Amino acid sequence: MSSAPEAVHSAYSAEHAEIYDFIHAARGRDWAAEADELAGIVKQRNPGADSVLDVACGTGEHLVHFSRRFGRADGLELSEGMRRIAQAKLPHGRVHAGDMRDFALGTTYDAVLCMCFSLAYAADEAEMRAGAAALVRHLAPGGVVVAEPWWFPEKFLDGFVSAGLAQEPGRAVSRLSHSTREGRSSRMTVRYTVADTKGIREFTEHEVYSLFTQQEYEDAFAAAGCPVTYHPGGPNGRGLFIGRRETGPGA
Ligand SMILES: C[S@@+](CC[C@H](N)C(=O)[O-])C[C@H]1O[C@@H](n2cnc3c(N)ncnc32)[C@H](O)[C@@H]1O
Repeated sequence: MSSAPEAVHSAYSAEHAEIYDFIHAARGRDWAAEADELAGIVKQRNPGADSVLDVACGTGEHLVHFSRRFGRADGLELSEGMRRIAQAKLPHGRVHAGDMRDFALGTTYDAVLCMCFSLAYAADEAEMRAGAAALVRHLAPGGVVVAEPWWFPEKFLDGFVSAGLAQEPGRAVSRLSHSTREGRSSRMTVRYTVADTKGIREFTEHEVYSLFTQQEYEDAFAAAGCPVTYHPGGPNGRGLFIGRRETGPGA
């Protein structure tokens, strides 16, 4: 086994973007049910909410469902491949190019979400705090922030292995992953094999997620002016941080 560290880029590659929806649906991901739950969380705390920003929106699957529940549903995404797929699904919503650690869209939303551990792509606590601050800066008064964390350090399983297979006529994709702990980070190697009418190809992605504590996430949102509460469970078992900004930007 090679010990040389592989290059890590948090923005997803174009070949990963192409198979993202297919493999995640086969792994049991139900974006419609997740979006229902998230819209319920937002509207319970902000009944008049009519606009939502999904940060690190990926292929825009949540946004497709949000656009039926909110008057305005926009996204922000670093990867060009993911962004292109998301924008094609959203004739009325705008998918902005940007980095969640430092973006300024010049507008605010009634809800800002960051799902699926995306905040843990921050390399250290300072970057994660910058991301939390950017999310909060885009909240209108009374706006709701929802952020899904990566595993807390005490919950992460070193050496965790997972396998998945997605199949449809003319296409099959397998996904094997292995995760290890390296200090305050987890490192996941994911190997994909894609078989389609053109042949078989393989590629490997290397992802690093920081193992921030519950307290570190809570401190980041409190420092940004929007204290959050941790709710265990959530769509993927890692829980959700939820908060409501009582004052407007700059207050
Ligand atoms: C696990 S996917 C989540 C996608 C989507 N939110 C979902 O729930 O399916 C993480 C996404 O974050 C994007 N990403 C990674 N680093 C980012 C950054 N610094 N700013 C914005 N997006 C980023 C990746 O390109 C990828 O699309």
